[in-house]
Amino acid sequence: MKAIVVTDQAAGTAGMKLVERPEPQAAINDVVVQVYAAGFVNTELEWPSTWADRRDHDRTPSIPGHEVAGVVTALGYGTTGLSVGQRVFGLADWHRDGTLAEYVAMEARNLAPLPGDVDFTVGASLPISGLTAWQGLFQHGRLQAGQSVLAHGAAGAVGSMVAQLAREAGAYVIGTGRAADRQKALDFGANEFVDLETDALEDVGGVDLVFDVIGGDIQKRSAALIRAGGMLVTVVGPAESRPTDGLAVDFVVESDRAQLSEIVQRVRDGRLRTNIGKVSALDDAVATFNSTERRAGKAVIRVRP
Ligand SMILES: NC(=O)c1ccc[n+]([C@@H]2O[C@H](COP(=O)([O-])OP(=O)(O)OC[C@H]3O[C@@H](n4cnc5c(N)ncnc54)[C@H](OP(=O)(O)O)[C@@H]3O)[C@@H](O)[C@H]2O)c1
Repeated sequence: MKAIVVTDQAAGTAGMKLVERPEPQAAINDVVVQVYAAGFVNTELEWPSTWADRRDHDRTPSIPGHEVAGVVTALGYGTTGLSVGQRVFGLADWHRDGTLAEYVAMEARNLAPLPGDVDFTVGASLPISGLTAWQGLFQHGRLQAGQSVLAHGAAGAVGSMVAQLAREAGAYVIGTGRAADRQKALDFGANEFVDLETDALEDVGGVDLVFDVIGGDIQKRSAALIRAGGMLVTVVGPAESRPTDGLAVDFVVESDRAQLSEIVQRVRDGRLRTNIGKVSALDDAVATFNSTERRAGKAVIRVRP
């Protein structure tokens, strides 16, 4: 099969190569998915799991990409819940070969059915951004209707999901980003927008939940805005700041079939809009990931037409 591999961490996306690899086999509780569309997050190449297995042994050449939408072609021993020919989407294991390939073997529990009226490109755009937003707001952040949320990077892949889901849940949403992102963030549900390059973040006043996708100084200044009992939720590594009278949570997104189904149902009924950027074929993926153009939305690799 065709697959993109990486062998050299220092090379970043410039070290990606499109090569021929053997098709993966389904292990216990696995399925093999024929990949129709895949998602990739640039920061994957900084994660240890891209380079080493769970015993910390070198696993290069490794296939990056963890988001997938496709069709099940084989079941491993003991696999239940999915069947051959079924359309699925989900989030592949961080420590195994991923989805920038024609086939991926992954645990069935990390996939959910993809309804027949949802395109594979849409399916592949949702797992990381949708689940991260869902888990950060509702599981870790325990968001309640009537609270206020500072949604950083609200025109980005995760932030646009945060803004929409928080708004639907009855929160007041303050989106942030660069000046050029203002309208997009408002279109994704932010009630107001803070341009982090020119506006004073401190003018926002108090908020109940900060959803941080940026870190550093922005995280620190945001933590200071959190009201008593509020929460800093960050997805860019261990929290470096915490509210004076509240909690700080950092987490790595996990796959969850029920949550994937909630998310895709919202896309079907119009409550959630996707934020898809450039869509490229697998042959053009390496060039797309190395492009210097500003990314707008989630890049999706369409592996099968
Ligand atoms: N822990 C987890 O489970 C998890 C899950 C998903 C994502 N993440 C992490 O979350 C981060 C965001 O991911 P994403 O896919 O949403 O990325 P993205 O699509 O690039 O969105 C980030 C948004 O924030 C904006 N932004 C970043 N720094 C800014 C600054 N200093 N001032 C103003 N705007 C700024 C970006 O604008 P520009 O493009 O102009 O910089 C972009 O619009 C990444 O670091 C990713 O690795 C973690």
